[in-house]
Amino acid sequence: MFVTVLLLLITLCAVGGHGEEPKRPGHGEEPKRPGHGEEPKRPGHVSVVIVGATGDLAKKYLWNGFFQLYVKQVSSGNTFSFYGGGQTPADEANPLLFEILKSVSCSKGVSEERCALLKEQFLRLAQYRQLKTLEHYQDLAKHIEKRLQEEGITEAGRLFYLSVPAFAYADIADKINNSCRPTSGAWLRVVLEKPFGHDFTSAQVLAEQLGTSLREEEMYRIDHYLGKQVIAKILPFRIQNKKFLDPIWNKHHIERVEIVMKETLDVRGRIPFYDQYGVIRDVIQNHLTEVMMLLTMRLPLNLTSSEEVVENKLRILSSLLPLGKNQAVIGQYQAYKSEVQQELKKTKDHVSLTPTFAAVLAHIDETQYEGVPVLLISGKMLDERESYARILFKNDIFCVQNHNSVHCKPKQIVFHLGHGSLQYPAILVSKNLFKPALMEGEWKEVTEHRDVSVLGLPLSDYYVQTPTEQREAYEELISHIFAGQKNSFISVENLLASWDLWTPLLSSLASSFPRIYPGGADNEDVLDFCLTGRDIRYKSKVVIISPDQMGAMAPNGFQVMQGKFRSADMVSAWAEELVEQLAADVQEAAEAAVRESGVFHLALSGGSSPIALFHRLVLHHFSFPWKDTHVWMVDERCVPQTELESNFYTMYNLLLQHVRIPYFNIHPMPVQLNHRLCVEEDRGAQLYEKDINNLVNGSSFHFLLLGAGYDGHTASLFPGTKVDEYGESLVVLTESPVKPHQRMSLTFSAINRARTVAMLVMGKGKHELITQLSRMKDNPEKWPVTGVKPANGRLVWYIDYDALLGQ
Ligand code: BG6
Repeated sequence: MFVTVLLLLITLCAVGGHGEEPKRPGHGEEPKRPGHGEEPKRPGHVSVVIVGATGDLAKKYLWNGFFQLYVKQVSSGNTFSFYGGGQTPADEANPLLFEILKSVSCSKGVSEERCALLKEQFLRLAQYRQLKTLEHYQDLAKHIEKRLQEEGITEAGRLFYLSVPAFAYADIADKINNSCRPTSGAWLRVVLEKPFGHDFTSAQVLAEQLGTSLREEEMYRIDHYLGKQVIAKILPFRIQNKKFLDPIWNKHHIERVEIVMKETLDVRGRIPFYDQYGVIRDVIQNHLTEVMMLLTMRLPLNLTSSEEVVENKLRILSSLLPLGKNQAVIGQYQAYKSEVQQELKKTKDHVSLTPTFAAVLAHIDETQYEGVPVLLISGKMLDERESYARILFKNDIFCVQNHNSVHCKPKQIVFHLGHGSLQYPAILVSKNLFKPALMEGEWKEVTEHRDVSVLGLPLSDYYVQTPTEQREAYEELISHIFAGQKNSFISVENLLASWDLWTPLLSSLASSFPRIYPGGADNEDVLDFCLTGRDIRYKSKVVIISPDQMGAMAPNGFQVMQGKFRSADMVSAWAEELVEQLAADVQEAAEAAVRESGVFHLALSGGSSPIALFHRLVLHHFSFPWKDTHVWMVDERCVPQTELESNFYTMYNLLLQHVRIPYFNIHPMPVQLNHRLCVEEDRGAQLYEKDINNLVNGSSFHFLLLGAGYDGHTASLFPGTKVDEYGESLVVLTESPVKPHQRMSLTFSAINRARTVAMLVMGKGKHELITQLSRMKDNPEKWPVTGVKPANGRLVWYIDYDALLGQ
């Protein structure tokens, strides 16, 4: 159980010219610049421009990456200038940039004296320029041009690294195209960082926008995972060990493929970005999908051919079986909700459905991999930081006596990216498979076997190889950009194909509640899942559904307690049992009503309280008499029914679409009439009241479910509402202090006619409310919830232990 990202412009932006009309690469038009094929051969001057030069990424990786490039290239015949650009005026940004540049460091092989000299040169070559307006870009181009002329040097190319939010890409690309294209014969490369869209359509729109300014071969879309040393060796490893791998790289031998990125950190400080993306868009659609393609794609005949590599990647993407709701489990760490409320300045009842954990089960529709589960897993706030890709092979040997025999141990190949128990990047092949060839380039075998285990096997049970020197992914990728090696980057086809795969899954999960997990070691087995055929599901039963119930895990054996609260009946238990009991009570009331009158009128309130009940009813109450049930609404927000904030939307998504209820038995509140929302003259409230009067005997609902807000509101009756304010009206328009302000609600008159009113209060956050309510007299004006007093019916409080006990 839980206990709880100076520029150094170095070279030149060729000025689009005074008064010269900028050219765009148009349809069929030959580009102004030579293609990348003829590139890096021509030495000359290279201008590097980092737009977003003092941001986090630039600070952490980019400047150092470009310094390493400078160190490697200083004797190559090329000369450089580096420009740091940004929105900030130069006098403010210069000191910041200076601090960043001072902190670049040399790799081990460089002597201290040489390093000091190189750093000094690098600092001299770098400067900051404000790059906000088109004029700024034009000035930069003039500056580069002037320098080339003054020094009589040839231009090799211009490299723009856009380390800025994606929404700024199209505009910057346009400015570069308009003013900063290099002089004839030199290349232009523009580097872009994810996110490249949010889904297929937005990625396509962004691609089209960028395509109006830049040619595909000029764009380098970064996925820093492709710069990781171990990942860059996946294809070479498969090729070098082909003779061992060919016989076993198939469904007969592979048990499972796992691509895993476990992280311990939360996303504090990044919520405005993260909350719109979530774990699938942030890392699975890109990093993990890339690794999956490298592991499963057909081997290219020519590893250096980016066309062939892309083609083979696309083929594997297109042969993945479609991903739907049953192919993913999602979670959200417990503290995320309050982090969102804080960083996005949301109210306490704001609920985010953004997953911070996901496990996805994919299958490849190719004979070679038929039936082989491919798992992609990532999460924040997990127990340890570790990233790897593992191919686990089947082991058909049964050891009768010597279980320690090497034959009995797991057979696996692990591409270990770093962290975890091993702490360094390595490729590990279990000794019962084969002895792999040593990777070409600076790799070495690890022969000392520290006392560590990697994925269930001691290090001594593996052949282990590691790079002789660890290098940052960005350093690697920057050198590839300079060399014009496009196969470490994401092509537009590749990008769109990936979004094509992930978008349907993302849509199907859009209104799913992620399972709440406490974070770190406390997660215990909460996120464990199992695979059944093509489906993946959490191992343990549904525990937490409503965000209001975070932390409310139900230890086995707790009894449901009956008692009294504010002189009314009370049922109390841990959240799960409480919802179980409530669902059972609703069903009992439904059966009784159907027996008695052939129909059951159920009125449900909005907000997060009833969500757990919806899940319970859907998943466990298959004999519920839905056919004879009419579902009414206690209250509604004045928003279109297709919006997430709509109570009906939630009710439809989580309950109604999953049960066999006749359409005509569903009664959404008419908040949108005459193409407008909640306008008195449209008489929506009166219309609803009329329906109630016509269909519900005595306007008395059989069962009415309410929740209680932190401020004591219930239904959409907020503090300040008088019990008799609305006279005999059953349905009215009300005002909420929080957005959306306009609501439609049943009145006390309607509520208090019900036969059974259930007041559901759950979560620690409600403890204060419960404490206050337990002491106070009826004061419906201040505490509307105290105005709930069914005249001839019964009020039952359903309060979970978290709300009751506050622990
Ligand atoms: C980034 C994601 O792309 O990758 C982050 O936006 C994630 O959320 C990071 O933490 C992980 O990269 P690495 O190199 O630390 O494994």
